[in-house]
Amino acid sequence: MFESFDYGNLNRETHAVHGTHRIDTATGAISMPIFQSATFRHPELHQSTGFDYSRGLNPTRLELEDTLALLEHAKYGLAFSSGMAAISAFVKLFEPGDHIVVSSDLYGGTWRLFNDYYAKYGLRFSWVDTADLAGVRAALRAETRGLVIETPSNPLMRISDIRGLADLMHNHRSDSLVAVDNTFLSPYYQNPLDLGADFVIHSGTKYLSGHNDCLSGFLAHSSVELAERMRTIQMSEGAALGPFDAWLTLRGIKTLAVRLDRQSENARRIAEWLRRHPKVERVLYPGFADHPGHDLCQSQARGFGAMISFYLKDAAEAPRLLKNISLILFAESLGGVESLLTYPLEQTHKAIPREMREAGGVTDRLMRLSVGIEKVDDLIADLERAFG
Ligand SMILES: Cc1ncc(COP(=O)(O)O)c(C=O)c1O
Repeated sequence: MFESFDYGNLNRETHAVHGTHRIDTATGAISMPIFQSATFRHPELHQSTGFDYSRGLNPTRLELEDTLALLEHAKYGLAFSSGMAAISAFVKLFEPGDHIVVSSDLYGGTWRLFNDYYAKYGLRFSWVDTADLAGVRAALRAETRGLVIETPSNPLMRISDIRGLADLMHNHRSDSLVAVDNTFLSPYYQNPLDLGADFVIHSGTKYLSGHNDCLSGFLAHSSVELAERMRTIQMSEGAALGPFDAWLTLRGIKTLAVRLDRQSENARRIAEWLRRHPKVERVLYPGFADHPGHDLCQSQARGFGAMISFYLKDAAEAPRLLKNISLILFAESLGGVESLLTYPLEQTHKAIPREMREAGGVTDRLMRLSVGIEKVDDLIADLERAFG
């Protein structure tokens, strides 16, 4: 049904455009068809085309999964209906009693999933500043078998040492699993498996699909031993990505490199502009040479991404700014072509108890900006007008 071409070693920009180079031999279609079919006919008993039922495997989703694996330098990719569904599938690898160390500064939805739900089923979580390797070491227990980090973290842009943490965990227990949520940098800028992580997590809703028009989530890994188990978890839970959203994400990935080049350059310009603004107290952007994680980020990634967080001097400025921006949209989410401004305290991190949020730095003065591909001068003009 498909012919796959092997072009040898290609660069990641090219992989993003061409994926696995599968071409439909019947039609020659350049765009992977949307196989909008729940089930597949068997020629006879014990025979299959390889596709039986779309919860288990679907050709459009498979092309996306293999493309993501290619980009993440992984053997296996798995696509889910959202980033949360991917994280939830990863957690199924643990047993009641296992202890998992998690970045204290990470997406609020992940905090809620672990704290409000999985803790009830006997998993134990510790929330630790994973940018501090010694702090992670101190949090380890005999039953610690997992580490889940975001780097850069959401929303405080802390950088964790993927290599150092993976070594620490694997020396602690050889059966430990280290997962890096790579949503903020995408495989275009960072490949955690090359640095020793066992799993990469993505909210594909963000940079991978890139157009704020669909949800998706991913796991990527290279464990031959876990390959079948992960497929069975995906198939059993039933949160696999549907064919149309798989196709939308595949289409988005084709322009990942050009979007991120533009978004990152825009972000650098805006971060510098914000830093000079009299109403802004501090800008958190790993691209600044004086950001605490700048050198580490540079040593483990190929770019600093297009996310910026900043503290206003006065909390009363926050509602004004959110009301007054017009080109930049006041909305949750990130990574798409449209620039979005988010108020983490009330949106992405609302699930975390207020005292914990504020102690960690998610205060009423913190704003998070996802920079899009618009002309940067228009974005700066919008911010200038909104600040008044
Ligand atoms: C870093 C990060 N990981 C995971 C998620 C969850 O992804 P989704 O919204 O696709 O379920 C988000 C969502 O904002 C996120 O920002």
